[in-house]
Amino acid sequence: MENIAILGSTGSIGQSTFGVVDRLKHRFSVVGLAAGRNTRLLQEQIEKYKPKIVSLERKEEAEELRRKCDVSSLRITFGQDGAEEVASFEESDIVISAITGINGLRPTVASIKAGKKVALANKESMVVAGPLIKALARKSGSQIIPVDSEHSGVFQCLAKERKEFVKRVVLTASGGPFFRTALSEMKKKTVEEALKHPRWEMGKKVTIDSATLMNKGLELIEARWFFDLQPKQLEILIHPQSIVHSLVEMNDGSVLAQPSPTDMKIPIQYALTYPERENGLLPSLDLSKIKALEFFEVDQNKFPLVSLSRRALEEGDSFPVALNAANEVVVGDFLKNRLKFLDISDVIKSALNGHKKRKIESLEDIFEVDWETRAETLRLLKERF
Ligand SMILES: NC(=O)c1ccc[n+]([C@@H]2O[C@H](COP(=O)([O-])OP(=O)(O)OC[C@H]3O[C@@H](n4cnc5c(N)ncnc54)[C@H](OP(=O)(O)O)[C@@H]3O)[C@@H](O)[C@H]2O)c1
Repeated sequence: MENIAILGSTGSIGQSTFGVVDRLKHRFSVVGLAAGRNTRLLQEQIEKYKPKIVSLERKEEAEELRRKCDVSSLRITFGQDGAEEVASFEESDIVISAITGINGLRPTVASIKAGKKVALANKESMVVAGPLIKALARKSGSQIIPVDSEHSGVFQCLAKERKEFVKRVVLTASGGPFFRTALSEMKKKTVEEALKHPRWEMGKKVTIDSATLMNKGLELIEARWFFDLQPKQLEILIHPQSIVHSLVEMNDGSVLAQPSPTDMKIPIQYALTYPERENGLLPSLDLSKIKALEFFEVDQNKFPLVSLSRRALEEGDSFPVALNAANEVVVGDFLKNRLKFLDISDVIKSALNGHKKRKIESLEDIFEVDWETRAETLRLLKERF
């Protein structure tokens, strides 16, 4: 048996992970869970999976859970320290890291320092701390397997290839709900419309990132560090069917691709069982039913966050941290209906234009840049609205 800790257990990736674990009961047992504020769902998960340690974002919810869950053998903790404790829990072998945003960074780092096998969904960790995370993993022997479907695709394509033969990597994007919407129409788009993703069911933050294509920009940066590639080797194509998750072109002209049905349980299961595989739970991919696989270039006018992300990718150092921080603040405000869809990219652009690059050598450096950029982005929002 392998013991799993799920960080972000009440979220979309967390719940898909249970879908995988339920089918592979002979192999996996859940020992730790970390959630945000959804006490009700966490309680259900505790009753079903009987973990030994759980954490919630705040003390209030942890106390509420202690009152409701009278299990003396269960440790209930809270806050970033609590999530870190779950992430490094000594009885776990595998950690699935799926807390949203930079809040997932410290727990991810804790699991890496503890030498766990980490199935990494929290892309923001790799975006803001790629080189630090890779160095920590080398030191502790922790193995990091991507969960993002595109990165899982690249990982699988490169499993038996040597890096020096890779010419370029193409990450595909569905294009989100506004791929076929005219720019003039996009300014009228509401939160509800932006949350209607055509292909994937995900948490709110990543769904808005998919509508602006910031998600793909973050994934470019994530891929740079995951696969140790140069920025110019990384490209994006819109692929509305979301079947081919990535393409890897080798120097001899061969192009390797990883197509599979559009369901996160596939990359989650792959990450959990790697380097082995288990039987899948979905029907086989039937390309004759899909008929057409289309690919388009990104319209930079409609989706300016892609070129802004590329700028952050090329600048490196603190730029990806600033990009991520500004995005988290602005998307949070958009979800509260405080600004319009096209304001998202405008405000992030202003925040990044004002950013002064500096070296990132520690987690403290990251949090300093993160806080400064958040404060500046809030100031920009206040000035504008
Ligand atoms: N969903 C996908 O298909 C997908 C695909 C690839 C990558 N990802 C990445 O995976 C991560 C999770 O995405 P998601 O779609 O699963 O998001 P989600 O549905 O919003 O779930 C986020 C999870 O994080 C928890 N959380 C939030 N803030 C927390 C905090 N401060 N402390 C502890 N837990 C906290 C939430 O808890 P509560 O709900 O209890 O508050 C929830 O369990 C993101 O980084 C995303 O980019 C997602």
